[in-house]
Amino acid sequence: MKLSVIGLGHVGLVTAAAFARWGHEVVGYDIDPSRLEHLRKGELPYYEPGLQGLFDEVVEAGRFSVVDELWETLVGTEVAFVCVGTPPLPGGGPDLSYVEQVGSAVAEHATGDVVLVEKSTVPANTGRRLEHVIAREQQRYGSTRRIDVASNPEFLREGNAVEDTLHPDRIVYGTSSDRARDALREVYRVVVEEDGCPVVETEVATAELIKHASNAFLATRISFMNAVARICDRVGADVDVIAYGMGLDNRIGPAFLRAGIGYGGSCFPKDVDAFAHLAREVGYEFDLLESVRAINTGQRDLVLRKLESELWHLSGKSIAILGAAFKPGTDDLRESPAIALAEQLLERGAAVRIYDPVALNEVAKILPGAARFDDPLEACSGAHAAVVATEWSEVRELRLEDLREHLAHPVLIDGRNVFDPDAFIEAGFRYHSIGRRSVPAI
Ligand code: UDX
Repeated sequence: MKLSVIGLGHVGLVTAAAFARWGHEVVGYDIDPSRLEHLRKGELPYYEPGLQGLFDEVVEAGRFSVVDELWETLVGTEVAFVCVGTPPLPGGGPDLSYVEQVGSAVAEHATGDVVLVEKSTVPANTGRRLEHVIAREQQRYGSTRRIDVASNPEFLREGNAVEDTLHPDRIVYGTSSDRARDALREVYRVVVEEDGCPVVETEVATAELIKHASNAFLATRISFMNAVARICDRVGADVDVIAYGMGLDNRIGPAFLRAGIGYGGSCFPKDVDAFAHLAREVGYEFDLLESVRAINTGQRDLVLRKLESELWHLSGKSIAILGAAFKPGTDDLRESPAIALAEQLLERGAAVRIYDPVALNEVAKILPGAARFDDPLEACSGAHAAVVATEWSEVRELRLEDLREHLAHPVLIDGRNVFDPDAFIEAGFRYHSIGRRSVPAI
């Protein structure tokens, strides 16, 4: 099939490459000309394990190319995927203006009948709004093309995006016509046949809600465990063992129960807010989600308070932050707890020394005041305390003796619960973790 992918970010680029791997002819477009230029040279705009190989393979096979103008992607296309950004607005809702612009462009430039598919995460009822925009614009341009709107949310995780896309847990699409449903069946035919992955065929609003409800639910699990961790701190219990014990229950399962410094990234924070915002708009106060968000930001404050309890005044102190990305496997800093913590430390007059194996270029852009290190021990060198903010394997593998040798004081706040508390405390570290054994506060 001839497919268009509009927006070549974390979702669009991986999706486009996967479609091409499955034998489709894919044409991509992005509003950022420099991104297109880099892609033409074979350079990816961000770090994502396994993507370079897949990208090179499909370009080499002649099944993926990029174009400079949105209308060019639409020439002869059967299905166009909207993968543009939906950044948060101040009120909590997402900015859907890029989605609307794509709808208008498709109405104006489609050269044949098209199925227009939302892949960007959007609130329920965006499909209906898009249909309205398309009908209005078609009237303006006198277009009689048939344009069906569908929703096909993406569930890929950054750092695991290629695997998640090539071998998904499930495929969800919502359509309002047989034609759109058949087109999406054909798009995914290869992966469904080869992988046997389950397919959820539904209507548009339900598909849209599956995405928001999934992300909000996963974020809720994390915040729930972070709240449990607070209780653990008070009664001397171990949140990791609790998560293990809970996860063995088949009804609960083990995933997304890790307590820590909190969730970040381009999806959970935004989607929790957007879902609460949508609920409010339709007359329901989703208070649970407000709590999920509050618990999450509270985790960053907790780390700051632990640092203050150890070092008293932070002004003039030097703090190593181990890991900048919002999670391992990516150089994405969006809503990263590490970055939020670094900003708060800098505001308090502390010197920040950040280690990350892949995200230092991004750190330089948004935190010019922080010193950057590509070696975690160098970041710790002479620091008054270190904070584990991202559980990179390079951080997990650090040896206690090396940390003690490099830090000015043996103070470690383990924001991702990666080290053995007993070993560190017995070796004389002022060791704090989240909801597990820690030294008593001063
Ligand atoms: C998420 C969803 O998992 C994915 O389905 C959706 O398409 C996009 O949003 P992503 O943001 O890439 O993916 O990362 P994910 O692995 O889900 O982690 C999100 C955040 O939660 C990270 O900051 C991670 O550190 C944190 N997390 C995750 C925890 O704090 N505890 C956990 O148990 C799991």
